[in-house]
Order: sequence, then C-alpha cells, then structure tokens
Amino acid sequence: MIVGRNDGLDGVMAGDTVLSHVDGEAGTLVVRGHHIEELVRQGGLEDLAALLWDGFAEGGGDVKAVRRGLGAARMDAFEKLPALLEVSRDLAPIEALRVGLSILPDEAGLPAHLRVCGALPVYLAALVRRDAGLPPVAPDPALGTAADLLRMLRGTPAPDAHITALDIYLATVADHGFNASTFTARVIASTRAGLVSAAIGGLCALKGPLHGGAPGPVLDMLDEIGTVENIVPWLEKAISDGGRLMGFGHRIYKVRDPRADVLKAVARDLGPASGRLAFAAEVERQALGALRRLKPGRRLDTNVEFYTALVLEAIGIPRTAFTPLFGVARAVGWCAHVFEQERGGRIIRPLSRYVGPVPKQAA
Ligand code: ACO
Repeated sequence: MIVGRNDGLDGVMAGDTVLSHVDGEAGTLVVRGHHIEELVRQGGLEDLAALLWDGFAEGGGDVKAVRRGLGAARMDAFEKLPALLEVSRDLAPIEALRVGLSILPDEAGLPAHLRVCGALPVYLAALVRRDAGLPPVAPDPALGTAADLLRMLRGTPAPDAHITALDIYLATVADHGFNASTFTARVIASTRAGLVSAAIGGLCALKGPLHGGAPGPVLDMLDEIGTVENIVPWLEKAISDGGRLMGFGHRIYKVRDPRADVLKAVARDLGPASGRLAFAAEVERQALGALRRLKPGRRLDTNVEFYTALVLEAIGIPRTAFTPLFGVARAVGWCAHVFEQERGGRIIRPLSRYVGPVPKQAA
C-alpha cells in the first residue's frame, strides 16, 4: 500500500488568535500580552483563567468570580462521582476522565467552561483515591483549584509550598498557541458541537505520549537510567535504536522551552527532592549532548515535560495523574480557544492531497 506524506501541518499558519503566542526561535511564550514567567510570578490557575477568558465569558476577567464559579462547579461535579466511579471501574484515570467529561450535558446550570474546568480536578482526585482503595473527599469551594485538588487527593490540607508549586505548574501550562489538543478542540468547536465536546476532543489529543503523556515516561527514563555512569550509554542506545527521549524536542521551540526553566526553578524551590533534581539535571545535560551528536541539525532541546515530571513527583502526585493534571490546566486554555473559535470562526476544513489510485476510466 502506498502511504502519502503526512507532515503534521508543519509550518502551516492555521489561524489568528489573541490568546497566546509561542516564539520558537526566541524561546518565549506570551499569554495575552504578558510573558509566562511574569504571569506565574503574579498568580496561579484562576488568574490565568481570568486572563484567558476575559472578554469571552461573562465575569471572565474577574479572578474572584472565576474562583467562585470553579468552586461551585467542583461541588456540582462531586454529585456526579458515583456515576463516574461506577462505569469507570477498569479504567486508568486519564481514560476515566474521558468518561467523566462525557457525562456532562451541553447545557446545565453553570456555564459549560466552569463545569468542565471544575469537574476535572474533582474527578481526578477521586479516581486516584479509588486506585488507592480510598473514598472520595468532597471539594471545598472556598479554595483555589490547586489547594483543593491536593486536599481532595490527600484527604488533608497540603503544605503551602506544594500548593504554590502545583498552582505555578497549572498556570504555566494553561495555554500554548495551537498545540495539538487545543487545535483539536478548535476543530470541534468550529462545527458548533459545543464546549463540552471540544474539551473531550482536547483531552483525547492530550493523552498521547508525544503531547501530554510525556512526563510519566520521563520518570520511567530516569528510573531506568538509574546511575550517573549509565546516563550516556543509556541515552545513546535509546536514540540509536530510534527511540525518543521523553521531555525533549518540540515542534515549535527550536531553543529551550521557557516553561522548562519556570518549572526547574519550582522543582529547586521544593528542596527535599534536590537529589533527584541533580541527577535529572545531569541526564538533561547529557541528553542535549547526545541529541546534538546523534541527531545533528535537528535542534532538539528540553521541553516543558521534563521538569513537569520532577515537580509533580516532588509534591507526591502519582504518575497515573500526571497527564490528567495537565488536562486540568490545559482545559482552561481549550475553553478560551473554543470561545474564540465560536466567535465568528468558520468551520475548519482543510484540503487533502489525493495520492491514491485513480479510477480506471479516468486514466
Ligand atoms: N528524542 C530523540 N529524537 C527526537 C526527539 C526526541 N525527543 N524528538 C524528535 N526527534 C528526532 C526525530 O526522530 C526526527 O529524527 P529524524 O530526522 O532522524 O527522523 C527529528 O528529530 C524530527 O522529529 P519530528 O518527529 O519530525 O519532530 P516533530 O516536530 O514532529 O515532533 C515532538 C515533536 C512530538 C514533541 C517530538 O520532539 C517528540 O516526540 N518528543 C518526545 C515526546 C515529548 O517530550 N513530548 C512532549 C512535547 S511538549 C508538549 O506537547 C506539552
């Protein structure tokens, strides 16, 4: 069978957005006019949500209203847990989240963006606890998403350092141009299928190891390498065997992903995990060298997922929750892009180049 080329829309400018801009040569991420480093110094996920939703959703630009709305949505989502836990018994958390979003109606009391972004942390905490044989913990609507998520996961309030670390992580990855999951959500939104359907599509795209599924495998890689002496041989064999080093390479960034440095600093601030961090930093250094030697000219650098793995591990998040947690954050961005797409965007329908056989009579 002849297979056509499939270039993954490399270099294609797929549309305009006022939401975020990734400059892959400068290594910068701008969200609504602000560098990501500046934004995460000033606030967490709710602040990013308010910024991204400003002008698109009622009360969108008001951090307090966003926080209240998400708190109320978490309470609503808690009511849905028995149904979700019943039907998702044999599913991993990321698979069960697909189900969880699917049981949200298109229209209900609260606006869909709040219901989607409020449901994901509640579902995730309950699914992780279920895997540990523990019952769900009810949300506290007065808390922010990061604090409440950690509390719902653990059953007790988390230390401030962990809440801050998680909140910075969530804000750092909330939006990132037309990445694969966001673009998926926009395609679905462009058909007017609605925000819930768009978010389900976004989550499905995020799940893949080439996109949001990389941080768990980053830790698997660090575990497999094991010792400093094994770093270079392990990396060189992996690359020579045609493998991909998780946490490296990016379609847009040809230099270091700026989010990697934000999260490296967060990991450093967490302190107790510094032994692991020093080892990871050495793996990173050697990986960049090995990629330069074995993949010359490809311009592969560290991406956000490498230090995501370190931060989430340091605050005690289990690996099965890494990708779902990315979904908790990125859902905020998906919603903003759905709003933008719905506001006058036409249906997304590109052309394809036909490279199959031609009908005989036409030959
Ligand atoms: N390790 C080793 N080689 C790599 C890596 C990597 N991480 N990434 C790309 N390459 C190589 C490819 O094998 C290819 O080599 P070749 O020219 O010899 O065939 C070359 O670099 C170009 O690779 P592409 O697949 O064309 O790059 P693309 O832009 O399509 O892929 C991607 C980007 C998917 C992120 C890729 O770099 C990758 O698989 N990285 C590892 C997974 C990962 O970390 N994903 C998270 C990305 S960040 C995010 O989505 C939030």
